Amino acid sequence: MERYVVAFLRASMAWLAMGVTLGVCMTVHPGWIVYRPAHLHMLLLGFVMMMIAGVAYHVLPRFAATSLYSPRIAVAHWVASNVGLTLLASGFIVRLHNGPIGAWLLGVGGVLSAAGAYAMVWNLWRTLDRAAVPPSRLMNTGRPLTTMSSSPGR
Ligand code: HEM
Ligand code: HEM
Repeated sequence: MERYVVAFLRASMAWLAMGVTLGVCMTVHPGWIVYRPAHLHMLLLGFVMMMIAGVAYHVLPRFAATSLYSPRIAVAHWVASNVGLTLLASGFIVRLHNGPIGAWLLGVGGVLSAAGAYAMVWNLWRTLDRAAVPPSRLMNTGRPLTTMSSSPGR
């Protein structure tokens, strides 16, 4: 398994643990409900999106019978999304205590998080552009692929 795939899957699980911990704190201390945006972005941008990224970077190139367009962009995505989410989640918390610093953290974190998302879109889009095209003899025969692939010599 590629290292950036493992890194995304591990980051996803780390964000799950941190987001759930904040969620439990919110249930134990009802006043902490004000941290809900941090909780939900740790879980949706962190756990959910990074799990999707890790699985997509592993599975989509294999589905498409090609390699990932740019492993370096995937690494840049990992850095941008993790630094970005750290700043974003911090910003959601800090803005309640210090408005200007919180706004700065939210702005930088938001731009980095978005940059990571755009990088993933670009990388996977270009990967799908390179998807292997089935041989023309397998197309437009009107028969299911399983029948054709199980017929030796066709
Ligand atoms: C032990 C696990 C969890 C605990 C204790 C927990 C706790 C909470 C609490 C106390 C709230 C605030 C509810 C309110 O505003 O009254 C909340 C909101 C939320 N949580 Fe969790 N949570 C947990 C896991 C998760 C997970 C795994 C996800 C997503 C993958 C998630 C997504 C959300 C979202 C999206 C909201 C905002 C809901 C809204 O705005 O209506 N939570 N959670
Ligand atoms: C670049 C990425 C993202 C940025 C910068 C961002 C930023 C924000 C901001 C600033 C808010 C308003 C929070 C507030 O002031 O209370 C918000 C709300 C919300 N975001 Fe995001 N977001 C991002 C991605 C996502 C993703 C991927 C999801 C879900 C998969 C998501 C789900 C939500 C939800 C459900 C709310 C409403 C929270 C509530 O009021 O209960 N966001 N987001």
